[in-house]
Order: sequence, then C-alpha cells, then structure tokens
Amino acid sequence: MLSNMLKMNILHFILLFILAETANSQNVSAILPLNKTTSWASKELYSGFFKLNSTSTLQVDFSNVNKNVSFIIFQVHSHLYNITLYNNTISRSSSVSGSNLGMYSSVKPKLDTFYVYNPNVDVNLRLFITVHGYLAADPVPGGCNMEFPIPTSPYMRTKYTKDYVLVDAPAAKDMSDVDCNTVDSVYLFFYKMYLPERHYDADNYFDGLRKMMTMDGITEFGEYIPPSGDRLRRTLSAYPGTGAVYVAVAYSASNTSAYSVYAPTTTYACAPLDDDGCELLDDFLSQLLCASLIFFGVFLCYFGHRFFKTEMYLIGLISGVIVTYILIALIADLDRPALLGVSVLSGMCFGAIWLAFWWFYGMPLFAVMLSTLNVGFLFAAIIYFGLPGGLVALQSDLNFWTLFVSVMLLTSLMFASMTFLSNILCCAILGAYATIYPMDYYFGSNLKYIVINTVRRATVPHFNKAVLSPPFEWRDALMTLLWLALAMSGFLFQHFHNRGRPPFPPPPRSVRPGVPGSYYGVSHPRRRTGVVIRPRIPEQTERTPLLA
Ligand SMILES: *[C@@H]1O[C@H](CO)[C@@H](O)[C@H](O)[C@H]1NC(C)=O
Ligand SMILES: *[C@@H]1O[C@H](CO)[C@@H](O)[C@H](O)[C@H]1NC(C)=O
Ligand SMILES: *[C@@H]1O[C@H](CO)[C@@H](O)[C@H](O)[C@H]1NC(C)=O
Ligand SMILES: *[C@@H]1O[C@H](CO)[C@@H](O)[C@H](O)[C@H]1NC(C)=O
Ligand SMILES: *[C@@H]1O[C@H](CO)[C@@H](O)[C@H](O)[C@H]1NC(C)=O
Ligand SMILES: *[C@@H]1O[C@H](CO)[C@@H](O)[C@H](O)[C@H]1NC(C)=O
Ligand SMILES: *[C@@H]1O[C@H](CO)[C@@H](O)[C@H](O)[C@H]1NC(C)=O
Repeated sequence: MLSNMLKMNILHFILLFILAETANSQNVSAILPLNKTTSWASKELYSGFFKLNSTSTLQVDFSNVNKNVSFIIFQVHSHLYNITLYNNTISRSSSVSGSNLGMYSSVKPKLDTFYVYNPNVDVNLRLFITVHGYLAADPVPGGCNMEFPIPTSPYMRTKYTKDYVLVDAPAAKDMSDVDCNTVDSVYLFFYKMYLPERHYDADNYFDGLRKMMTMDGITEFGEYIPPSGDRLRRTLSAYPGTGAVYVAVAYSASNTSAYSVYAPTTTYACAPLDDDGCELLDDFLSQLLCASLIFFGVFLCYFGHRFFKTEMYLIGLISGVIVTYILIALIADLDRPALLGVSVLSGMCFGAIWLAFWWFYGMPLFAVMLSTLNVGFLFAAIIYFGLPGGLVALQSDLNFWTLFVSVMLLTSLMFASMTFLSNILCCAILGAYATIYPMDYYFGSNLKYIVINTVRRATVPHFNKAVLSPPFEWRDALMTLLWLALAMSGFLFQHFHNRGRPPFPPPPRSVRPGVPGSYYGVSHPRRRTGVVIRPRIPEQTERTPLLA
C-alpha cells in the first residue's frame, strides 16, 4: 500500500517535471470561421494574430465555410523568423518553410487542416494568419508550379544579393487550362510597397503585409513592378535597410473579373537579426572615407571656387575615384575596402595630374570642363534613378550608355557655356551632394543610390534587368531639401564672396607660349563667353588666397 503510494508520488513527480520542462512548448489549436462574405475587391475571409511559443504547433481548422467559395489560400506570416507549415499530416513531404507562407486547399471534399510549427528554440512568435476564399472561376495561384517544393504553391520567394532583389512567384493555373499547357491563360502582375526606412519592428511589418493582401489594399498602396524579361520573376535594385512587401496578382486571360492574390513576401535586403546585418558601412576604411566626405563636401560647396587649385585637385580626385572604382570592379573581383583603397590612391594621382594640368596650362574652360562633366554624370544618374523600370530598349548596354553619356555631355556643355558661374554652380551642386552622401548613410535615406545604382549598372552583371523604383519617404524628402538648400546657399555665398574678383585665378605657372593668335593662347583677352581672363596681372595674384 505504502509502496504503491510512493510509486504514485514518484510518477506524479516525474509527470510534473515533464510538464515543467515543456511548459513553454504547448500545442494550441484554433477553429477559424470562414462565413464572411467576399467582394471583388476583398476576398479575405479571415485575418488575425496568433501567439505561438517556441517548438510548439498550432493546429488550424475551419468552420462555416462561405458557400460560394471553391478554394482557399491559407497564409501564415512571421516576422524575421522561419516557421514551418504542413497540411493534414505532419510529414515532411507536404511542408514548406519560411516566414511568408501560403497553402492551397480545395473546399471539396473537405478543407485541409493546417499545422504551423515554430522550430525556433527560445523564440515565441507572433503570427499573422489570413484566409482568402476564391470562386471556381478564379485562377489558382501557384497552381502550375514547377520550381517550388509542393505541387500547389500560392506563396512567393525573395532572394537578395547586396545589389539586387529577386522576387519569384510560381505560375498560376486558370480554370480554362487545367493541364497547364499554355503560359498565356493567366497574367501575373507584381506589386511592391516599401516599409518605413530603417524600421525593423514587427508592427510596421505586419501593417505593411496587411495592406498588400487584398485587391483594395494593392490598388491603394502597391506600386506596379514592370516586367523585365522573365514572366515569373522580377529583378529590383536592392535598398538594404528599407523593408519591402512584394505581391503577385494572377488575372485570368479569359475572364477579366477573375483574379487571385498570392501570399505576399517581404525582405529588408539585409539580415536585421544578425549584429551589423543591416550595417551598410561595416569596414573602417569606408566609414572613414564617408565621414571625411562631409568636410570635402562643405569645403567644395562654400569655398570651392575661391580656392581654385584645391577645387581642381578635389574634382580630379572624385572623378578618378569613380572611374577607377568602376574599371577595377569590372576587371577584378575585389571586396569593397580593397576596391575603395585602390580607387582613392588612383584618385589622388588623378587629382594631382589634373591640378598639374591647370598649373601648367591654366585654361579655365578646360579646367571647369571636369566639374561640369561631374555634374553631368550626377544629372544623368538622377535621370536613371527616376526612370520607370521596364524600358526594354534601355536594357541593352549600348543604348543605355549612349543615352547616359549624351545626357552627361549635354549637361556639361550647357554648364560650360557660362564658365565662371558654372564653376560656382558645379561646386555648389557637387559639394552639397558630397555633404549629404555620408549623412544619407547615417540617416538611412536612399539618395546615395543615385550614384550607387549607376555604378551597379556599370559593374554588376544582369543589373540591366533591375527595376530601380527607389523609395521616396520623408527621410529622402528631407535629404533632398537639405541638398537643395546647401547647393543654393553655397552658390549664393560663393557668388557674393567672389564679387569684384577676377573670375579665375591665374594659373601659377603657365608653360603655354603667349603667341598672339594662338588658339589656346592667353593672348585672347576675352572669350566669346564673355569671361575675362587676365592671368598675368600681378596685383590680382596678391589677392589670391594662400591656399588657392
Ligand atoms: C507560452 O509560454 C508562456 C511562458 O513562456 C506561457 O505562459 C504561455 O501560456 C504559453 N502560451 C501558449 C499558448 O502555450
Ligand atoms: C506538440 O506537437 C509536436 C508535433 O506535433 C509534438 O512533437 C510535441 O510532443 C507536442 N507537444 C506537446 C506538449 O503536446
Ligand atoms: C458566421 O457564423 C457564426 C456562427 O454561425 C455567426 O455567429 C456569425 O454571425 C457569422 N458571421 C457572418 C459574417 O456571417
Ligand atoms: C454567394 O453569391 C451570391 C450571388 O453571387 C450572393 O448573393 C451571396 O450573398 C453569396 N453568399 C455569400 C455567403 O457570400
Ligand atoms: C530561414 O530559412 C532560410 C532558408 O531555409 C535560411 O536561409 C534562413 O537563414 C532562415 N532564417 C532564420 C532566421 O532562421
Ligand atoms: C498538401 O497540399 C498539397 C497542395 O496544396 C497537396 O498536393 C497535398 O496532397 C496536400 N497534402 C496532404 C497530406 O493533404
Ligand atoms: C468570371 O469570374 C467571375 C468572378 O470570379 C465569376 O463570377 C464569373 O462567373 C466568371 N465568368 C465566366 C464566364 O466564367
């Protein structure tokens, strides 16, 4: 009797122990009612949040299914962490894993039971679960899938490199083509929406996902992503640190009022879970160069023309860095610090050469040409930045670079036709951009990609297919305003600062023969542009500042 009681106690104790051990891992189940009426713009039957503890399973069944519905798409979304979704049996053969998942189930004979498993040890997750119901005439998203693991895959996938994001959706099946024989029975349209820049929190994330779930939300918040060759894939430029929600909508070709929405997918184009996973400047050299850019920028913006030789050197340096960076990135596969180091060294040489050029030849028009070319480059880059994607003609490198260089040269010529003012203007524009460039890194806006996207276009293979479509949020607007303000104040400041001075300081040491009538000679006192060049008048040499 006593021993029996003892046994019971021990058993009790063991049971308690097991329960205590697994208190965190509790399997839960839910029954979702699906009797909401659907409309053309919203076919959502259910949406809600669930908490799922680590290493636990959530079992989902359905009740009161809307009689008009023929099949449902069940979606589960988690923030940052992966989850696993099964249908009916908890078997590996019919499971998918990821953080934005969806599964298909036909209403007949009966709806599947879905299991969501949280494999993350010590991470309790908040899940966003939605159910969308579709009519028999609507296409089945992922119904003609060839690449994804389970036969009907109504979800999408994103992959990213440091330069671009790939968004994939499996082919949809239209009711008019049950055997998936043709590719044009269903049209796929892709849409995207950016989340707030540098916000990795769950609230913004789920809010963004929720906006991109229904036709209503997609038309209101989504931005169309034009295709660039592939039917089932979109390539976009990567803006690490700015989250994005992508969704595909399948429209039936034979019935314009039949459509279905895939489970949306998301990416930050970086890994917020890792330390420094979303840090853009992770090496010391880049950080140092970026920080020093502020000083160069402010100097160029406000004093560039006054200290003409320093300006010559800096402009030569910038041009040298960009050109070398692109050339080396094209030939060799170096990592960024090495690439930057080499580019800066080469840029310094280039700056010195350019300065020497001015030193010995001192032709203002030519000296200023490089600044105007830089502004032309920036202007062409801005146009590329703002261009809508999907322009097939510009996917060809030849077309693209011809156009790019034309815009660059045209801008440059336009500026060069007013030498003195243009140099001040160029200094102000370039200096202001150089000033906001590092701020852009620390602030998390995306104006740095004006230059970066152009460099990517030049150096990254297949980037010609990428749709740029950059985010423009309040941070970007603020940065743009700052850029404009800096450029304008810099221009006015330099304009008044240089009032009454000769437009250009004399070159320190001209080797050019002053042969009268020589085309490039200094003996032309007045050029057609109205710029007066009086380099050999001594009292003006005295007024030139020490640094210039
Ligand atoms: C999740 O775990 C917490 C303890 O960490 C527990 O209080 C809670 O009841 C669990 N929730 C579920 C649904 O099992
Ligand atoms: C929860 O479900 C999983 C798999 O379905 C199972 O391995 C585990 O033992 C269950 N845990 C509890 C506490 O029931
Ligand atoms: C769904 O069904 C439940 C139970 O039958 C009912 O209480 C609820 O009002 C219904 N909801 C709608 C939107 O029809
Ligand atoms: C089913 O469709 C019919 C006609 O299209 C509509 O009148 C009815 O309200 C729908 N029922 C539900 C539950 O959505
Ligand atoms: C999620 O799964 C993908 C692919 O299986 C993997 O690359 C990624 O590291 C996982 N993420 C987490 C947070 O475990
Ligand atoms: C799970 O769903 C897929 C397609 O959605 C289906 O082919 C498969 O038979 C389902 N698995 C089970 C066990 O029902
Ligand atoms: C077209 O689709 C709508 C909505 O999905 C459906 O009500 C209608 O019956 C379909 N028309 C044809 C001709 O299949």
